[in-house]
Amino acid sequence: MSTSYHHTPVLLREAVEQLVTSPTGIYIDATCGLGGHAEKILEQLKPKGHLYCFDLDPEALTFAEKRLARFKNVAFIQNNFDKLKVELFHAKVTYMDGILYDLGVSSMEIDTPERGFSFMQDGPLDMRMGETDMSAEDVINTYSRQALTDIFRNYGEERFSGRIANQIVETRPYHSTTTLRDCIRSVVHGPYINKTLARIFQSLRIEVNDELNALKKSLKFAIDMLRPGGRIVVISYHSLEDRIVKQTFQEAVTDCICPPRDPICTCGHKAVAKKITKKPIIPSVDEINKNPRSRSAKCRVIEKL
Ligand SMILES: C[S@@+](CC[C@H](N)C(=O)[O-])C[C@H]1O[C@@H](n2cnc3c(N)ncnc32)[C@H](O)[C@@H]1O
Repeated sequence: MSTSYHHTPVLLREAVEQLVTSPTGIYIDATCGLGGHAEKILEQLKPKGHLYCFDLDPEALTFAEKRLARFKNVAFIQNNFDKLKVELFHAKVTYMDGILYDLGVSSMEIDTPERGFSFMQDGPLDMRMGETDMSAEDVINTYSRQALTDIFRNYGEERFSGRIANQIVETRPYHSTTTLRDCIRSVVHGPYINKTLARIFQSLRIEVNDELNALKKSLKFAIDMLRPGGRIVVISYHSLEDRIVKQTFQEAVTDCICPPRDPICTCGHKAVAKKITKKPIIPSVDEINKNPRSRSAKCRVIEKL
C-alpha cells in the first residue's frame, strides 16, 4: 500500500478544540480516514485517555494505524459508524466523553481511480467505502428509471434528474466512471455541467453507502452514550448531511417536540443537550485557499446536559 496518501484535515484545530474537554476521557473518531483528526486528538490526551477510531474503509484504517503507531491508547474498528453501540459494547465501553464525525470521503478515496468516486478519472463504477454488496454499477444497471430519478433528485438535488435517468436506462449497461460521465454529458450541456456531474456522483455514493440513514442512526446512539458534559462534533459537506445534523441536534436541545399547532404537550420530550455552536463553524478564507475541498464544510457542536 502506498504511504504517500495525503488528506488535509478540515477545521482541524477548531474541531479538536471543541471535542476534547477532558484529557483522560474516552473519545471516538467515527470517521478516522487517514487519521489527521485522530492524531491531533491523541496529542491532547493523557495516557489514561482513549480514542476509538471507526472507518468503513480497511485501506484507510491500515494507513491510520501506521501513522498512529506511536500512541498506545488508540484502537481501530473497521465498521460502519451506525454500529457504534454494538462495537463499543464489545470493547466494554458504555459511555464516551466525545465523538467526532468528519463526513464524506477522504482525498485518498476520491483520488484513487479504482475506487470509482470521481468523474475526473477513469475507473470502475464502484463507490463502496467498505465491503458492502452493492456498488454504483449495480445501482446504475439494475434500478428502475423512477428509482434513479428519485436518487438523483433526493440525494443530488439535481434538476435534470429525470432526463439523466432516462438516458441511462435507454443506453445502459455502464461499467466505468467516464462512460457514465459521457452519458450525462450527452443530455446536459452548458457551463454548469461539472456541478451536475458532481451532484449525480454524490447521489450515487450516498445510495451505495446508505450514508444518510447511517448518520441518523449513529447520531442517536451517540447522544445516548455521551457522558454529561461530553460533546458531539460533526463536520458536514453538503446540505443533506447538514440538515440531518441540524434537525437531530435541534431535537436533542428541545424540551417539547409536539407539532407547533398542538395546544398542549403530549410528547413528554425533555432536552438532553445544549447547543455549543449557535451558527456552524466554517473554514477561514485562508484554510479554503490552502485546501479548496474545505470550502463547503460546516461544523456543529452540542454538549450533553
Ligand atoms: C473526510 S474522511 C475523514 C478524514 C479524517 N478526518 C482525516 O483527518 O484523515 C471521511 C472518512 O469517513 C469514512 N466513512 C464515511 N462514512 C462512514 C460510515 N458510515 N462509517 C464509517 N466510516 C465512514 C470514509 O471511509 C472516510 O475515510
